[in-house]
Amino acid sequence: MLLADRVAIVTGGAKGIGRAIALKFAEEGCSIAIADISLKDAQNTLAEVTRRGGEGLALDCDATDRKQVGDAVAKVMAKFGKIDILVNSAGGMTVAPKPIEDMPEADWDRVFKVNLKSVFLFSQAVVPHMKKRKWGRIINLSSAAALNPPSHAIHYHTAKMGIIGFTLDLAYTLAPFNICVNVLLPGPVRTDFYEPMIGSMSDKEKDGFFEELGKGDIPLQRIGTPEEVAGAALFLASELSAYITGEALKVSGGSPLRPFHTPIQKTLDKDK
Ligand SMILES: NC(=O)c1ccc[n+]([C@@H]2O[C@H](COP(=O)([O-])OP(=O)(O)OC[C@H]3O[C@@H](n4cnc5c(N)ncnc54)[C@H](O)[C@@H]3O)[C@@H](O)[C@H]2O)c1
Repeated sequence: MLLADRVAIVTGGAKGIGRAIALKFAEEGCSIAIADISLKDAQNTLAEVTRRGGEGLALDCDATDRKQVGDAVAKVMAKFGKIDILVNSAGGMTVAPKPIEDMPEADWDRVFKVNLKSVFLFSQAVVPHMKKRKWGRIINLSSAAALNPPSHAIHYHTAKMGIIGFTLDLAYTLAPFNICVNVLLPGPVRTDFYEPMIGSMSDKEKDGFFEELGKGDIPLQRIGTPEEVAGAALFLASELSAYITGEALKVSGGSPLRPFHTPIQKTLDKDK
């Protein structure tokens, strides 16, 4: 097993990508603490972890609140005595994007808080424990959309770009302590993430939306699954990636590669 005897905290592990990461890690022998604002869903994830033979904790925790983050980390230390891996998956759009002229300052602050401040607070709380043991893995969730915005969502894209900067700084700083810090950039993945934008659609309309999203600009011609992002997270959490830190890994079906429509390709095609 790739994560035997490891202990991980997964923020946002109650649903979507975080949940898939929690389950994949548990299958590989890792104990899992799920830190999420939705305790009921966190308990459901934990039940699935247990069903698969793993163990863990479901923690009612708002990742944007320093006290709650401190309490959650203290509970994990009390139960398991160490923290090897931190996955910062809590995040999302939370409010439908508006054009910059109309965006309320409160929307900007809210999206920054859940996507960026949460990463800062949880990293700050776990780093001392990792440093003491000279081993650690921090995996952050940015987005492929940070580099290639598919739409105008400036609060979210800016916050997700901030996570890349945060990752690079921390990777360098923590390298002498054998703590690797990397960031995943998923493309579109069907989860509740899209609810603020398409919540009013029928299930059939949603199916059509995701099919179109996949066919649009993605070379593999489909959207991704939470399990596919979890596979990349497992690689970054395990010894398989022991010499990788400060890396931004796209998990995006080949996006933003584009079909060849350049003048060079047209010239080559003419010669065929
Ligand atoms: N789904 C996508 O297409 C996609 C693409 C790129 C990046 N991402 C990123 O991946 C991460 C996971 O997204 P997802 O698709 O699984 O979304 P999701 O909505 O399915 O899951 C998000 C989880 O975070 C929890 N959460 C929200 N605010 C929280 C807070 N303040 N404290 C603790 N927990 C909180 C939610 O309760 C939920 O369990 C996010 O950071 C998101 O921005 C998602």
